Amino acid sequence: MAISTNFTVALLLIGVLQLISFTECRIHVLSGSEVTYPAINCRKHTAFLTDFGGNGDGQTSNTAVFQNAVKNLSQFADNGGAQLIVPPGKWLTGSFNLTNHFTLFIQFGAVILASQDEAEYPVVEPLPSYGHGRDGPGGRFNSLIGGSHLTDVIITGYNGTIDGQGSLWWKKFHKKKLKYTRPYLIELIYSNQIQISNLTLIDSPSWFVHPVYSSDIIIQDLTIRAPVDSPNTDGINPDSCKNVKIQDVFIVSGDDCVAIKSGWDEYGIKFGMPTEQMIIRRLTCISPDSAMIALGSEMSGGIKNIRAEDISAINTESAVRIKTAPGRGAYITDIFVDRMNLQTMKYVFWTTGSYGQHPDPGYDPNALPKVDGINYRNVVAKDVKMAGNMGGIDGDPFTGFCLSNVTIGLSEKPKKLQWNCTEISGVSSNVTPQTCDAFPDNGSMECEYPLDTVPVDTVELKTCSFTTANLIL
Ligand SMILES: *[C@@H]1O[C@H](CO)[C@@H](O)[C@H](O)[C@H]1NC(C)=O
Ligand SMILES: *[C@@H]1O[C@H](CO)[C@@H](O)[C@H](O)[C@H]1NC(C)=O
Ligand SMILES: *[C@@H]1O[C@H](CO)[C@@H](O)[C@H](O)[C@H]1NC(C)=O
Ligand SMILES: *[C@@H]1O[C@H](CO)[C@@H](O)[C@H](O)[C@H]1NC(C)=O
Ligand SMILES: *[C@@H]1O[C@H](CO)[C@@H](O)[C@H](O)[C@H]1NC(C)=O
Ligand SMILES: *[C@@H]1O[C@H](CO)[C@@H](O)[C@H](O)[C@H]1NC(C)=O
Ligand SMILES: *[C@@H]1O[C@H](CO)[C@@H](O)[C@H](O)[C@H]1NC(C)=O
Repeated sequence: MAISTNFTVALLLIGVLQLISFTECRIHVLSGSEVTYPAINCRKHTAFLTDFGGNGDGQTSNTAVFQNAVKNLSQFADNGGAQLIVPPGKWLTGSFNLTNHFTLFIQFGAVILASQDEAEYPVVEPLPSYGHGRDGPGGRFNSLIGGSHLTDVIITGYNGTIDGQGSLWWKKFHKKKLKYTRPYLIELIYSNQIQISNLTLIDSPSWFVHPVYSSDIIIQDLTIRAPVDSPNTDGINPDSCKNVKIQDVFIVSGDDCVAIKSGWDEYGIKFGMPTEQMIIRRLTCISPDSAMIALGSEMSGGIKNIRAEDISAINTESAVRIKTAPGRGAYITDIFVDRMNLQTMKYVFWTTGSYGQHPDPGYDPNALPKVDGINYRNVVAKDVKMAGNMGGIDGDPFTGFCLSNVTIGLSEKPKKLQWNCTEISGVSSNVTPQTCDAFPDNGSMECEYPLDTVPVDTVELKTCSFTTANLIL
């Protein structure tokens, strides 16, 4: 008896040792080890998904488990906050919401698997600044991970994964089999002090990360992946948000890697909430049919004071693209781009004043957007089909463009016309190939880039920790 017990223990130990020697990174899976992570705030209380009966077999739905866990831990919101640890395993779940002063930590080897069952997603009202769901009129499925009117909420991990299992949703979308707008992967509404970091996000049913009507947001160290032909899988879409930082993110997707938005036509104009004060740093994007960063197309609350620096795109349709249309109203202004590295592109510069896509016929065609003060400097691009495809709106020209120190190497079969500039004006300096007449050379000048910092950029992260509870082999 004693011998066989010892034998079992010995076998177990060998198992553990093998695990350690195979992949050093799995050590922290072992019980009793400390995991540390950077966060805007640490929490006094710690709980594990398994405390609430979670089942990580990848088959059993944990929707009620997540919902109960968050509900239970919300009792600590005003008492030091709580962190919910998702241990290694595959945790299938439908939609759940977060709470105040709360951290969702997804451990290394942990995967949150999004349910493909529509019944697991409550149907919610359209956003007021959109008036409609984005896939069609009427309601929308709540996001996989949601929250509204929250303060101090963190979704992070040791490179844990959230898998949206989007393929079935994409199929249904293409076949027009969906009654409501597809769920986003993460959507936080009317919230402030948000951190989303150190995660791998894959195959969202639609947009991946959607903070809306929110402020003081840090999004960093993310890997986001969806097939390049998947519909509307935008990476990160800050929408009517203020004071935002996005940095060190790698995105492969079927739509824009980052799309800065602020509501749609008459609904967005009425709501009137801009996206402003934002920095994007060290973004790498692959998106053959879309932009690295799109401004719009929904921009009816306005977009201003946006900086992007040290950004790279590979095999992407365009770089920092402006998308708008009559009916959108508002403005896109004070946009600053510094140090852009591009490899294999259709267009380096692309502005579209006739994007179309209206929520309904009730939009005002006389609501013309003002596009002014758009600065690009220090751009290197290789294997490019066309340098600039830049159109404004008839009777509403885009103004104040500045292009400096831009070197564009063309592809083997470039377009004959390298610059097509209509209803647009500005200046340039040191741009190859030579620009259109709309951007006359202004001698040796540098386009502007602000010297001050976006407030959220000075936030120092604290070192938080917890001790792992379970030994999972
Ligand atoms: C949930 O909170 C209550 C206190 O309100 C506590 O007694 C209970 O143990 C908690 N449930 C779990 C599963 O931790
Ligand atoms: C999540 O919050 C939304 C409001 O943002 C609400 O409509 C929905 O019912 C909530 N979901 C759950 C499971 O409580
Ligand atoms: C978060 O990601 C950064 C960059 O990859 C890394 O330096 C840091 O160690 C990560 N932290 C955790 C807790 O995973
Ligand atoms: C995180 O994991 C993914 C695979 O799931 C990997 O591609 C990526 O490089 C990892 N990121 C970090 C920072 O370790
Ligand atoms: C022009 O841009 C390149 C690439 O960013 C940079 O290396 C170079 O220093 C810039 N030149 C000037 C004069 O700023
Ligand atoms: C140039 O752009 C305008 C307006 O965007 C468009 O109508 C025209 O067809 C374009 N010309 C060429 C040659 O692509
Ligand atoms: C163009 O150059 C002139 C003279 O160097 C300068 O005063 C002016 O500000 C420049 N224009 C822009 C838009 O930078």
